[in-house]
Amino acid sequence: MPGVAVPRSWGPWGAWSGLALLSALWLLWLFWGAPGGVPAPQRTLTILVWNWPFAHRPPELPSDTCTRYGMAHCSLSTNRSLLARADAVVFHHRELQTRRARLPLAERPRGQPWVWASMESPSHTRGLDRLRGVFNWVLSYRRDSDIFVPYGRLEPREGPVPPLPAKSRVAAWVVSNFQAQQRRVQLYRQLAPHLPVDVYGRANQRPLCADCLLPTVARYLFYLAFENSQHPDYITEKFWHNALAAGAVPVVLGPPRASYEAFAPPDSFVHVDDFGSARELAAFLLGMNESQYRSYFGWRDRFRVQLFNDWRQRFCAICARYPHLPRDQVYQDLQSWFQA
Ligand SMILES: *[C@@H]1O[C@H](CO)[C@@H](O)[C@H](O)[C@H]1NC(C)=O
Ligand SMILES: *[C@@H]1O[C@H](CO)[C@@H](O)[C@H](O)[C@H]1NC(C)=O
Repeated sequence: MPGVAVPRSWGPWGAWSGLALLSALWLLWLFWGAPGGVPAPQRTLTILVWNWPFAHRPPELPSDTCTRYGMAHCSLSTNRSLLARADAVVFHHRELQTRRARLPLAERPRGQPWVWASMESPSHTRGLDRLRGVFNWVLSYRRDSDIFVPYGRLEPREGPVPPLPAKSRVAAWVVSNFQAQQRRVQLYRQLAPHLPVDVYGRANQRPLCADCLLPTVARYLFYLAFENSQHPDYITEKFWHNALAAGAVPVVLGPPRASYEAFAPPDSFVHVDDFGSARELAAFLLGMNESQYRSYFGWRDRFRVQLFNDWRQRFCAICARYPHLPRDQVYQDLQSWFQA
């Protein structure tokens, strides 16, 4: 342990507090440093969720909410009277953007960490310029977030590998928001003359109920996992749920291949950037033989898809990261950070 110098000018009182400091450090050292020693005593963290995402009424949050997600000593609450003593307060961006929620800046306890949370892409995020110098931590899908919560991930599989669903059709796409200027719409229009694509969703008056999506997509060889906008790490449930979990090979339009490869094996998806044209992409997909097609599912022997689509789980993740996060950090320019 490094020596602690007590300045002379402190006098006797200084010596006493120096001693107290030394004993405190010694205790810390005992708890943390001793091999096989007693773990540091844990206290329960209180995370106040100021506004529940996309909801007028928050869900019930029983005291074991985070324990169910494997996070003990972590209490989620939406009770705003806890502002004065919460260990961190989390604000979801959409409600700040629409001004349905306001920041309680005047009542903020000194030093209380505030968390900015959003899973939307920068293209669908406005009003960040109003939030200068307010937030300490960011919760988002971007890997460089303080609290990184991807839309999904591959986890080691235990137990038998389910068989691949039987295939009877070529390519499916579910889309609700179809706008001519989107890159995904332009690509779809270039692909459609060369590849049979069945379009589902509100945009095509063929909505799929929540329980119908997976069995419907399962019958297809490929799923067009086209993100609505292209941004670093912005890989949504279109990839994890609609394609991988359904058992269809994702044909991805989104961030560059390297970004996908940070999340999934390089041979688990087809990236549109790997082709010079939509016609080449279509020819590649249609020309695949069975063994080549099956090779896209090699990951299923070792992994299964874990989705992170529940806001309770995302907020409980704050507690896991809490001890490791910088206390003196402030996002002075959230706009530049997020829109980068
Ligand atoms: C909110 O918290 C305060 C302070 O702990 C408590 O008195 C109050 O009953 C709580 N309100 C609700 C609705 O749980
Ligand atoms: C399937 O396609 C791959 C890649 O083009 C090729 O190497 C392989 O020989 C083909 N297998 C059969 C059985 O045709």
